[in-house]
Amino acid sequence: MSEHRPTLGVGLYPGTFDPITNGHMDIIARSARMLRRLVVGVARNAGKGPLFPLEERVELVEAEMGRIAEQTGTEIEVVPFSGLLIDFAREVGAGVIVRGLRAVSDFDYEIQMAGLNYRLAPDVETVFLMASETHQFISSRFVKEIATLGGDISSFVPKLTLERTLARVRPQV
Ligand code: PNS
Repeated sequence: MSEHRPTLGVGLYPGTFDPITNGHMDIIARSARMLRRLVVGVARNAGKGPLFPLEERVELVEAEMGRIAEQTGTEIEVVPFSGLLIDFAREVGAGVIVRGLRAVSDFDYEIQMAGLNYRLAPDVETVFLMASETHQFISSRFVKEIATLGGDISSFVPKLTLERTLARVRPQV
């Protein structure tokens, strides 16, 4: 991937995606409509002790991107990263960092991150999309918790992610 000046037509949607949810999918589809190229950055975030290894998180995101790319005509690339988000944004030439916002609980964390990233790289804008009404309450954390406790997560995650999550939280004996 070549290094170039950040442009507003190129967006970076970063996250841990442990695993990808329908809420993430909604933000990806809606941001893709506004962008020429979208990089979905999958953070290694080893500190969070993810359920899925990085390679599988990338695979599960990638599995869903073909349809969105086709529908929007936007070039979508899924790329793992570690290190600072703004360094990665620069590396991929993104002028926009996209984040989804649910209700008020995300706000404190997101405003801090956007503010700090702006101080570090004022040429990269953070843009927020409000989560759609149907996806307000979905989070990877609760998807994993519900699945672990035997609840039905089929309306919260894409099909392949559902299968893989169930396989991980309830291994066959
Ligand atoms: O899906 P998440 O876990 O809310 O995503 C968080 C993510 C990956 C966007 C955040 O942890 C991040 O930016 N990590 C990279 C390290 C970094 O740049 N930290 C400083 C943020 S101000």
